[in-house]
Order: sequence, then C-alpha cells, then structure tokens
Amino acid sequence: ADPSSLPLRPPVVTIMGHVDHGKTTLLDYLRKSSTVAQEHGGITQHIGAFSVSLSGGKQITFLDTPGHAAFLSMRQRGANVTDMVILVVAADDSVMPQTLEALKHARAAKVPIIVAINKVDRPEANVDRVKSDLATNGVEIEDYGGDVQVVCVSGKTGQGMADLEENILLLAEMLDIRAETDGMAEGWVLESTIKPLGRVATVLIKRGTLRPGDFIVAGRVHAKVRSLRNEAGVEIDEAPPGTAVEVLGWKEPPDAGDLVVQAPDESKAKAAVHYRQELHDRGEIISQMA
Ligand code: GTP
Ligand code: NA
Ligand code: MG
Repeated sequence: ADPSSLPLRPPVVTIMGHVDHGKTTLLDYLRKSSTVAQEHGGITQHIGAFSVSLSGGKQITFLDTPGHAAFLSMRQRGANVTDMVILVVAADDSVMPQTLEALKHARAAKVPIIVAINKVDRPEANVDRVKSDLATNGVEIEDYGGDVQVVCVSGKTGQGMADLEENILLLAEMLDIRAETDGMAEGWVLESTIKPLGRVATVLIKRGTLRPGDFIVAGRVHAKVRSLRNEAGVEIDEAPPGTAVEVLGWKEPPDAGDLVVQAPDESKAKAAVHYRQELHDRGEIISQMA
C-alpha cells in the first residue's frame, strides 16, 4: 500500500532533560490545559503517557519518564517509539550532564528535537547562555542558522506553551506521520502496574486499533482486553494509532518495553506465548519478539 494514503496519526512526543529542569511541570501544564482534562474534572492518575486534544481537534501524545528502562529496551530493539523529543533546558541552569545524555538518546534514535527553554519567568533566567551552550554542544538551533526550533516557556506561568504546542504540530506536519488504523493492533508496553482495578499496562498503539475483547500477546503473556481507559481514567471503546491507553485484562503482568501484538483469537494468542516460552527455555533470542 502507498504509505502516503494512510491516515495521519497524532505525533508521539517524549519530554527529556536534566533533573529538575521542569519536565513534569511542563507535562502537568499541558495535561491541565487539555480538553480531556477539563472535560473529566482533572487528571487523577498518572499513566506515563497521555494524549491531549487541542482546540483544532488535533491530538498530541506525550511520553513521560523517558529515561526509564522501557524506553531504552524499546530503542535497543530498533523501535522508534517517539516521533520527536522535546529537550527541556532550564534557563537558570543551562546545559547539564543529563541534557547531553538526552541529546545522545535523541541522536541515536534519529528523531528530531525541539528545545524548550523553561523557567524563563525566573529572575536568574539567561536564555542567551542556554542558546550558546546548546550551540557549543552541536545543537544546530535556528538562532544560529540551524533548523532546531527553540521555544522559551514557563511551566509555571504558561508563557510560551501555546507556541510549543504549535511547533510540535508544525514539525509533525513536516514529518507526515501516518499509520494504518485497520488490521491487527500493534504497540509497546510503556508501563505495567497493579491498581485496585487489577493489572494494568499502559500501551502505546503504533498501528491498528485496539478494542475491548481483542486478544493480545506481550512478551510471554497474553490477555483478552477487558477494558481500555484513557489518561483521565475514562473507559473508551477503541485506541487508535498514536495514542496511549491503559489496558486491563492481564492475568500476569507484561514487562515495560514489551512489544504488543494482537492475535486473531485466544488459541493463537496462547500458541504464540507457548512458542515464545519454548524459545526462551531453549535460550534463543529473537529480536523484537522474545
Ligand atoms: P525530575 O523528574 O526530578 O528530573 O524533574 P523535572 O524535570 O520533572 O522537574 P520538575 O517539573 O519536578 O520541576 C523541578 C522544580 O522546578 C519544581 O520545584 C518546579 O516547581 C520548578 N519549575 C518547573 N518549571 C518551572 C518554571 O517554568 N518556572 C519556575 N519558576 N519554576 C519551575
Ligand atoms: Na524534580
Ligand atoms: Mg519529573
């Protein structure tokens, strides 16, 4: 099939940066200003990923805690879970070791970055210093003739946040991010936890559409999807590509970083798990699979 004829999907955006530079604050701001959050009276839970619906009807999916094992494991298996990286740099602290670490990840994954210079509301903020430190470290920012966008923001006051969203959408448009919505669903486990409702895995859907009743395999466990919940804890009927969703129905927990694939029926799901277990017992490693 011609890829350009596939439907557009929301961009998947990962927030990275040095400790305390404001990643969570920025995410919280985006969550609270999102339509979803307003509609359902605020976000009560954290799921490591969430999608915001913007006023124009467009969506962006944000991934949290990218330094964690799942992100690395997915990247090691060649999965580009993220379409772009927002590199957060505090204007009062500038480029720090984990800023460079994040840059390294983004380059290795070959994903474009947008720089968000945060905390510009602080009296100690020094935007020019951040820009020159970035340039020194090989980031080709637009101010210096490069093509990396830089947005000045404050997660505290909200300054620049609309610009940041706009920049994300523009970059997404350039990247022309598409995926098929029909056919067997496929995705990645971002997080796996136990909640009062039962075992829950946050799954980022990459292709296809996941629905309650579907059979899925992740690593060496399988599940019949009992229900799907969005970031606001609201039950939804389907999870399309480019969205993150909480999946309930696991008897055993999948691992963060596991590839999730839909199976046509329960016996195929069980057979897939059985086969993977057999390979595992034989000590064979199959990339993308075991
Ligand atoms: P880690 O997850 O621990 O790496 O930190 P983080 O990058 O998520 O930073 P976090 O959002 O926890 O913010 C760290 C501190 O900076 C908190 O005290 C925030 O309130 C503060 N902070 C974050 N953004 C801003 C901002 O735009 N302006 C000001 N003045 N303070 C901010
Ligand atoms: Na912090
Ligand atoms: Mg944080």
